[in-house]
Amino acid sequence: MITNTVKRSPLFYVGDKYKLIAQIKPLFPSRVNTFFEPFVGGGSVFLNVDAENYYLNDVDENLIKIHKYLVNIAENSDYFFSNIEKIINSYNLSRSYKEDVIPDILKKKWKKTYFARFNKPGYMKLREAFNKHCDKDPLTMYVLLIYGFNRMLRFNGKGEFNLPVGNVDFNNNVIKALNGYFDYVKKKKVIFESRDFRKFLYTKEYSEKDFIYFDPPYLITFSEYNKFWNEKNEMDLLNIIDRLNKRGIKFALSNVTEYKGRTNEILISWMKKYNAHQVSSNYISYYDNTKKNIKEVLITNYDRKD
Ligand SMILES: C[S@@+](CC[C@H](N)C(=O)[O-])C[C@H]1O[C@@H](n2cnc3c(N)ncnc32)[C@H](O)[C@@H]1O
Repeated sequence: MITNTVKRSPLFYVGDKYKLIAQIKPLFPSRVNTFFEPFVGGGSVFLNVDAENYYLNDVDENLIKIHKYLVNIAENSDYFFSNIEKIINSYNLSRSYKEDVIPDILKKKWKKTYFARFNKPGYMKLREAFNKHCDKDPLTMYVLLIYGFNRMLRFNGKGEFNLPVGNVDFNNNVIKALNGYFDYVKKKKVIFESRDFRKFLYTKEYSEKDFIYFDPPYLITFSEYNKFWNEKNEMDLLNIIDRLNKRGIKFALSNVTEYKGRTNEILISWMKKYNAHQVSSNYISYYDNTKKNIKEVLITNYDRKD
């Protein structure tokens, strides 16, 4: 069950842990000094873990660029929202957080896709303007993400943003998530980095009061960010976790052991030495009858009372 107390990331990241927070958070240590997240994605986990300091990382530089931008502008959220509005108005994008500008005729004709139909011309112009500048302005990138297909960030080989328009817009959920993010990061010491997880982990110092949460790409599932994940990465990660464990550092690792007939044997044999908690996955929708073919786990090396 998702309660109002679970914060949602304003990046609406595909495969995020938002819906699983209620299940996994009670399995995290009750007190955390520094929280490390080498695969932070949209950030829905750190937003729901209370700690003194946060070191957050993801190899996706564009994603981290948006996070850093949001953190830096958190104290000036009025300025941020007025700049967002300027873009929305100049490109005539729909803005259901504020007003309904979509003509009824379009709504009747395209009952299920009128947001995409209405926003496509403005979105394409904005995308073109964004791609002309090599500095990849994070504010425009964020607007493209919000109006883009599946709310993703995707670039072609030439470095051009290439997602088509989505059937979504800037609505009250986006405003709520942004305000929640701003309020949170204003109060916390949050540092974002963009490195490969190995480099990120090697450059940090840890104490026994710290906690590392790992949510890497899963070896046996499919998604845009799984493309470069392979057995070598998996083995490196598990070896690093073993070394951290030997030093008494607490960790939790989310992963999938079975998915549509595929099994992750490397993980299954590795996790025997730790605590494995079964998690009811949201990876596949409730109505999908293949749901029973997925086994999601949270692997930890501590007692909850720690
Ligand atoms: C399952 S997602 C994390 C989702 C996140 N827990 C959330 O709630 O949004 C895995 C992330 O790992 C990142 N990633 C992939 N390979 C990586 C690497 N070698 N080093 C660091 N991050 C990597 C991807 O960009 C992706 O954002």
